[in-house]
Amino acid sequence: MCGIVGYIGYRDAYPIIVKGLQRLEYRGYDSAGIALYDGQDINLSKTKGKVDDLKKKAESSMSLKGTLGIGHTRWATHGVPNDINSHPHYSNSGDLVIIHNGIIENYDSIKKELINRGYTFSSDTDTEVLINLIEEVKKKENVKLGHAVQIALNQVVGAYAIAVIDKQKPDEIVVAKLGSPLAIGIGENEFFIASDASPFIEFTNNAVYLEDEEMAIIRIGKEIKLRKIKDNSIAYPSIQELQLNLEEIEKGGFEHFMLKEIYEQPRAILDTYRGRLLAKEGIIKMAGIDENLEKFLNANRIIIVACGTSWHAGLVAEYIFEDLARIPVEVEYASEFRYRNPVVTENDVLIAISQSGETADTLAAIKLAKEKGAFVFGVCNVVGSSIARETDAGAYTHAGPEIGVASTKAFTTQITVLTLLALKLAKAKGVFNSTRFHEYLTELEQIPAKVEEALLTNPLVEIIANVYKDSPNCLYLGRGYNFPVALEGALKLKEISYIHAEGYPAAEMKHGPIALIDEHMPVVIIATSKGHYEKIVSNIQEIKSRKGKIIAVVTQGDVQVRELADHVIEVPETLENLTPLLTTIPLQLLSYHIAVMRGCNVDQPRNLAKSVTVE
Ligand code: F6R
Repeated sequence: MCGIVGYIGYRDAYPIIVKGLQRLEYRGYDSAGIALYDGQDINLSKTKGKVDDLKKKAESSMSLKGTLGIGHTRWATHGVPNDINSHPHYSNSGDLVIIHNGIIENYDSIKKELINRGYTFSSDTDTEVLINLIEEVKKKENVKLGHAVQIALNQVVGAYAIAVIDKQKPDEIVVAKLGSPLAIGIGENEFFIASDASPFIEFTNNAVYLEDEEMAIIRIGKEIKLRKIKDNSIAYPSIQELQLNLEEIEKGGFEHFMLKEIYEQPRAILDTYRGRLLAKEGIIKMAGIDENLEKFLNANRIIIVACGTSWHAGLVAEYIFEDLARIPVEVEYASEFRYRNPVVTENDVLIAISQSGETADTLAAIKLAKEKGAFVFGVCNVVGSSIARETDAGAYTHAGPEIGVASTKAFTTQITVLTLLALKLAKAKGVFNSTRFHEYLTELEQIPAKVEEALLTNPLVEIIANVYKDSPNCLYLGRGYNFPVALEGALKLKEISYIHAEGYPAAEMKHGPIALIDEHMPVVIIATSKGHYEKIVSNIQEIKSRKGKIIAVVTQGDVQVRELADHVIEVPETLENLTPLLTTIPLQLLSYHIAVMRGCNVDQPRNLAKSVTVE
């Protein structure tokens, strides 16, 4: 939540910061702001709304001069989204300016103390409290900016990635991190700071990712100085070479990132199993698992923790692990798990699934499981993210950057990694013989081509979307492997089109939701030929006899459901366990088209952010 950007060097900072903020807008878009140091003054502009609104305001109201600057795009936590609560924030003297991603939990008590000392506050934010605390420390202790930041941060409880500039220090930015991500791009005589590397990818391939409780003093013409926040001791930067490229973070001719990412799925799935799935040799090679196979084989059970779409991928994985590898699995919302005093032992394996690798609840669940001695395995998309670093081992999905706030290719690539893991365990446990194993590997290799075929349903899905775009509600039903797909379909629709949607196991319909069905209720039902087909057909009949409108996702060549449903969308045939990788495609497209037709902001739905770094 919230994106931060900064620049210090010899170029104009304004265009770099604005472009960077646009790339980070997925992290929050309630408001945006920028501060530029023109050598004499720190000029500031901020506004409720998007980065485009900020551009309009800044370009008509402030000097855009300066080779040092910081910018922020906000997902509101403390204080409503308005101009005043937007970042950056000045300190009382006007000398210091801060941007902040995170939450200062004890801001209230610090604020009271500062008020007693004469400080005044114009915003409701925790961030304005932090910058005044830094100012107070700087004055009281008579120390320089970096030292004041270090002392002040030892007095706060919470999470932060911050950047602070000081009118007295025209060549310096001080940054610090705990819990929220912060990358420093290193160029020739210039530095960039950002919540991820996307704002500076065209300028440099070298970056330092700050660790938790580290801070850096970034000065022009000097090497970066890293310090431990706790005791001010020196830390040593490890410079990493970035793998990102510019094309991956641009729309590439698509109208929205979400559509681009839906269409990237054949490639993303292929990239995820490339080099791991060796069908000819009959092996699956995954370093993170190969080195820890015994941990999985000796586990009493696997606990999966995740949030949102990643949690849905976890549910699919539960079916796969239990079905194929015969290992008991529990799937938990990370937010519930961390607070409910769960029974976890050193004989458990915890798998944490997260696209961003920054989700605060998932991160906290990992820390809890580690404390209790469990082996923790991460499935993340963002390389070098906090979760990737915090886990004992892991496997990356290779989906590439996912920028649309609604998760699409992350879901299918997570399922791909988890399927590889389940297959490997099934083979190692001897549950699978070589023939069955080989059958799965060859079918997995066919999935990218079958996803391409599923994408060909797009024009038909668009027509169906036009019929139902004004429905206030929608029900999604599925059984077995496609029950989590129904949940995911409903989540996609509600988050980007603001239509109320619910996912249910199809057989649960008669225990309540059936009361909602009438001629106005569209029901999306996944009815592929494998897995409880006849039962699903009975459910469809129950909906039809109550005049519900049926949109069925079926296997190519289906006859029976076609006779009953109002609309059928065909996907290719595959093994039952792999059907979610195909059935989810038309559901993503359906929500996309409905949202576009309703005039919604598909890539940046209201109230949401891509990376949920607050609990
Ligand atoms: C839905 C969506 C969210 C995320 C959830 C977890 O489209 O994107 O529900 O899945 O916030 O995020 P990660 O996977 O980054 O931990």
